[in-house]
Amino acid sequence: MHHRPVTQTLPSTRTTDFEIRAVEDDERRSAYTVFMEALHEEPPDDEKWTLAARAYEPGRAYGAFAGDTLVGATMSLTSDITVPGGGVVPMAAVTGVGVRTDHRRRGVLTGLMRRQLADLAAAGEVFATLHASEPTIYGRFGYGLGTLARVVRVKPPRARMRADVPTAGTTRLLTKDEALTLLPGAYQRLRPRRAGVMGRAPSWWAMCYEYRLTHMRLRVAAHYGPDGEIDGMVGFRSVEIPSDDPRVNAGVVVLDFVGANQAVENDLWRFLLGIDLVDDVTVYMRPLDEPLEAMLENAHAVRCEWDEELWVRVVDVPAALAARTYGAADPVVVEVVDPILPANSGRYLVGPHGADRTDAPAALTLGVEALGMVYFGAWRPSKLAGIGRLAVHDPAALPAADRLFATDEPSWCGSLF
Ligand SMILES: CC(C)(COP(=O)(O)OP(=O)(O)OC[C@H]1O[C@@H](n2cnc3c(N)ncnc32)[C@H](O)[C@@H]1OP(=O)(O)O)[C@@H](O)C(=O)NCCC(=O)NCCS
Repeated sequence: MHHRPVTQTLPSTRTTDFEIRAVEDDERRSAYTVFMEALHEEPPDDEKWTLAARAYEPGRAYGAFAGDTLVGATMSLTSDITVPGGGVVPMAAVTGVGVRTDHRRRGVLTGLMRRQLADLAAAGEVFATLHASEPTIYGRFGYGLGTLARVVRVKPPRARMRADVPTAGTTRLLTKDEALTLLPGAYQRLRPRRAGVMGRAPSWWAMCYEYRLTHMRLRVAAHYGPDGEIDGMVGFRSVEIPSDDPRVNAGVVVLDFVGANQAVENDLWRFLLGIDLVDDVTVYMRPLDEPLEAMLENAHAVRCEWDEELWVRVVDVPAALAARTYGAADPVVVEVVDPILPANSGRYLVGPHGADRTDAPAALTLGVEALGMVYFGAWRPSKLAGIGRLAVHDPAALPAADRLFATDEPSWCGSLF
């Protein structure tokens, strides 16, 4: 996937306090430093910056400047996302967001988000997505929680895999070089068809694998199928955990876990649960329908928590609505309201045939944030109506909208960024 620049479409925006504009190449390190400090991490030394710089694709980062000083930043990775029905559309994976603490609550983030969204729309991105550090921040910019997942914690000493769970090949640890050479191509081949799954550009591999392999003790294993091809991968690190037994105080935290099919995932679980001297395996972002409890002799070895996953911002509503397929139900006229990108606002006739603009009266009205929540099937429109996130003008449209937007399996992204 070649990177798509997005930043050159608009001049800079100036307020009395600061200027929002695309960063020059030599300003990217300042943008990254602001991001790191917002996360309470150390500023990067030369070696770390050399690696982190690879995530900063040219033409995709913005800064807020007070005079010459960069005080806020955001950027995005080139990506794409699978929509319900299997189509794949351009998506910007937003990350690197931070505002210097001496400039917070003055509209810096607001300026950055608005500018970034306007450029993403002009550049033809259909979605922007992000993983939110705090759930209160991004709704106001039209991001809605669009895919849900679970954090799974397993106690390996108590978890035994049932003997009848199928196996599909072998799992082997990779060196750093092997991981970086083999996995990007393997991911393209094995990429699950599930809605919400995203493309991984070179910038993603630099940020999420190369940096962590070099500086964060990431270890990687690949699963090989009978044909000798890689059809699954896990990225994990060991952490120290509190323990009553001084000999077993290690836990494993899994940051990446993706397999071409269930049988591959069975083997990846077998691998993770088979690591010796480990008291706890924690895997983030697992799909809601993963049958892990049923794979084990003792389901009580599993503890689950709900995990929010991808925040979804529909950047191009007509393109997004036209890209997915819909369930069988009577068509519904949906009115979308988007104050930040007003070209999206309007009424759409959504039905099994697809989605088009219409002048017909709306049966349902929802903000673009709520559209991000229903688009990948994470939330049913009727439930959002019940909590005041969607206005109903024709009650008969609600069950129809539930069926139209439902997905066969829960959506899931599975890629951190
Ligand atoms: C979140 C952050 C960017 C906020 O930036 P900011 O410039 O202070 O935000 P703004 O001034 O534009 O705030 C806009 C609105 O959002 C609200 N807001 C912003 N951050 C908020 C937060 N963390 N919690 C609650 N409300 C928040 C503000 O109160 C303001 O509301 P108002 O318009 O009703 O007054 C900053 O706190 C930060 O750097 N956080 C860490 C970044 C991070 O987690 N990055 C990782 C994700 S990639």
